[in-house]
Order: sequence, then structure tokens, then C-alpha cells
Amino acid sequence: MKILVVEDESDLRDIIAFMLESRFGAQVLEAPSGNRAIEIIRENPDISCVVCDYRMEDGSGGDVFAFLRQNQPAMKFILCSSGPPDDYPEFREARPAAHFQKPFTAEQLSAGIREVLGLTPAAMAQQKPPRYCKIRTQTILKMDLLNCDLYVRLSDTKFVKVVNSGDVFGESDLLRYDEKRIEYLYIRIEEAEAFLQKFTRDVLTISKAKEAVPQDTAIVLNKATLEVVHEMTHRLGFTREVAELTKASVELALRCIRDDPRLSCFLQKLAVDPNSFISSHSSILAHVSCGIATMMSWNSESTRHKLALASFLHDMTLESDQLALVGDAEGLAAIEARFGESGRSTYVKHPEEAAKIARGMAEMPPDVDMILLQHHERPDGSGFPFQHNYRRLSPLSSVFIISHDIVTQFHLAGGDPDLAKFLLEREKLYSAGHFRKILATLQASLK
Ligand SMILES: [Fe+2]
Ligand SMILES: [Fe+2]
Repeated sequence: MKILVVEDESDLRDIIAFMLESRFGAQVLEAPSGNRAIEIIRENPDISCVVCDYRMEDGSGGDVFAFLRQNQPAMKFILCSSGPPDDYPEFREARPAAHFQKPFTAEQLSAGIREVLGLTPAAMAQQKPPRYCKIRTQTILKMDLLNCDLYVRLSDTKFVKVVNSGDVFGESDLLRYDEKRIEYLYIRIEEAEAFLQKFTRDVLTISKAKEAVPQDTAIVLNKATLEVVHEMTHRLGFTREVAELTKASVELALRCIRDDPRLSCFLQKLAVDPNSFISSHSSILAHVSCGIATMMSWNSESTRHKLALASFLHDMTLESDQLALVGDAEGLAAIEARFGESGRSTYVKHPEEAAKIARGMAEMPPDVDMILLQHHERPDGSGFPFQHNYRRLSPLSSVFIISHDIVTQFHLAGGDPDLAKFLLEREKLYSAGHFRKILATLQASLK
């Protein structure tokens, strides 16, 4: 249900919009003037009801009412004004569906809307609350121009619009939300598709730029992108738009690995963000696994493509960062102790779930599903879900498993990359098959 709120006082408009969203689950459109309202009505003939002020600078409530009578006689009009309708010439001949004299309470307005729209308690119960997906404010800052409205979450069911589609979200906005400790804003699920398309275009523009893309810039942007992919996968499913954004992110990672194939990640701090563990370690993992493959002289474009895709998808079906972090750091027993049997079962299944997503993705290169399926196996057969040992693990899975281990260990060490210590500790575990060769190459790289 769409309701248009026309009010030139922005505070009052926000309160009315918030009340309509939270009580009726309505999609609220807003206009600061009569003429803007008429434009919005032209673009949205499916609006159920217009809640409208009378006295406004650019077009009055009377103008909106006259427009509706001529063009949309079925659209309900509720007047909220300081005087009675008889004070205004446009309402002498025809009356609004309801009238509220300012000041009025939220209770009065909501009772009036219920009556005008014939919303019985049963019909109200059927109104589904709107669904939202969260987007980090830092990520929003990366978009030039917004193509959807942004909301702040007040509680599980209460959201209030704070930024309009078409606005620019700049540094000062980011600061304002940082000060209020608001890390995420929300978009409506119906607008997610358009948001994803725009975001994908923005990521591709950077990956196709003429200048070299520094690894740390790409890692940060890919972390933001993967966070969006992750959120959308859980809210919408792995749709075509989500798949396109994943591919754009892989493009960006490959572009910067091509620009600088050295394992520079080892030399700098691997700052895995514990608050977005899945997206940040996935983004770093793409760079580390492609770097190791290059050192092994498995440096074809297609190998890198497979490793980057696997990195981005491997933990995508896990909803909780904590689940991924505890699982990677402490193993299955810790998962069961902290998250119970259902947490354990979700975690054990995630390699197969990720492989399923890969198989369903158009143009997915072969082997990616195998890497995903095997990413928690161990060369000594102590991993899951199949307890395969090194003989059953493919060369690319082996690179991936070691890279994942490095990224996790460096994260646990607080980002202090002591590769020599890591290699020493892992000598026994990685002593057979492809694992031995990879470890030897890494050891040689330190000399
Ligand atoms: Fe995983
Ligand atoms: Fe992981």
C-alpha cells in the first residue's frame, strides 16, 4: 500500500511518514509541496491515499485536491490543515475523505486513515511489514548518486526514511551517522535490484579504469561489495543481480592482481575486520590464493579466476560472521558448544551449499564447485564434510585450503604476518602431496 505524505515542515512529514510505515506497513512517498506531490501522483497512479497539508509555498493542498478530482477521483485525499475545510475555496464544493485540524495526535490520524481506507483489523493483520536489507554507510559513500531511499532502523519492525533517492550521500553524512554510532542504513527489498545494478556498474567502472588499482583499495572495495552480496543472498537469494555483482567483484580482484601479482599482502597488515569477518577475509583470501598460485607458476588467468570466485563464494551461505569466525578459528566442537546442534549442522553443510550456488551460476568455470566443497577438508583427513585426505584434494583446493589457513591465522594473530612461524608450525600437517609443494614454495619465497 502506497501513501503520499505532502507537508512542507520536514519534521512533521517525518513523523507522519514514520507512523504510516510502522503502523500500516505502508510504502510512504513524501513531497514538500503541492506541485511536487502532483508530479509524484502522475508517476504513481497506484497510490491509495494522499495525506496533505493545505498551506505550502509551491502549490497548496487545494491544488492537489483539484488535480485529484480531475485526474484520479478514486484516490483518497485526507486534509491536515490549521483551519477547517470551509476556510478553503477548493473544499466548498467537494469535501476531502477526512480532515484533521492541527495539532492532531498520531492516534487520531491513524484511526482516520483506517476508516478512509476501510482497513479492518483482519485486513491490517494481512498487511505484511516492509522488508529491508542493510547497507554499510561506508559502502553507500562509494556510490556517486543514490537510486533508492535510505532508512534508519529504530527497531525490528520500525524504519524511518532519512535520505531520498537521487540525493548524494557525502562525507558529511557519513560523519553524522558515525557520530550517532549508526553503521548501517537500510533499503527496501523492492528497491534492492535497482541498487544492485547501480552498484555493479560502479564496481565495473573502477575495475576498467586506466590507472592501476592498488591492492588495498581493491581489497577494501571488494570487502564492501561482498558484504552487499552476502546480505542480498540472505534476503533475496542468489539472484541474477547478486551473481552479476559477485562477478564484477571478481573482475576487480583479478584486475588488481594482474596489475601487481606479488604477494604484497604478506608484507602488509592483513586487517581482517571481525565485524564483517566473512566479507573481509573472503576479499583478502582472493588476493592471497591468487598470489600463491602465481608463485607456484599456476598463473593462468583461468586459475586466478577460479580461485577468486571460490574465495568470494566460500562462506556466502553462512548468515553469521561469528559462526564463520569461531568455525575457522576453533573448529566444529567449538561451534557446537557455542551455537548448539543447529549451528553445527548449518556450518557443516556450508561447503555443499556454496558448491550448489556455484553450480547454479551461469558461466561458472569448472572446478570452482570442487574447491568450495573441499575448502574445510584437511590433508590428514580431519576436515569436513567428507574427511577426504590429501590424495583426494585437488591442486587448487590445496592452494585454497592453505591460503585460507594463512588468512585465518594472521587474523587471529592480530594482523601481524609472521609467515616463517606459520610455515614452521604447519610443516607436519602440510607434508604430503600438493600441500608439500605449496609449503616448499612458500618457504623458498622467504629466503
Ligand atoms: Fe568456510
Ligand atoms: Fe572462510
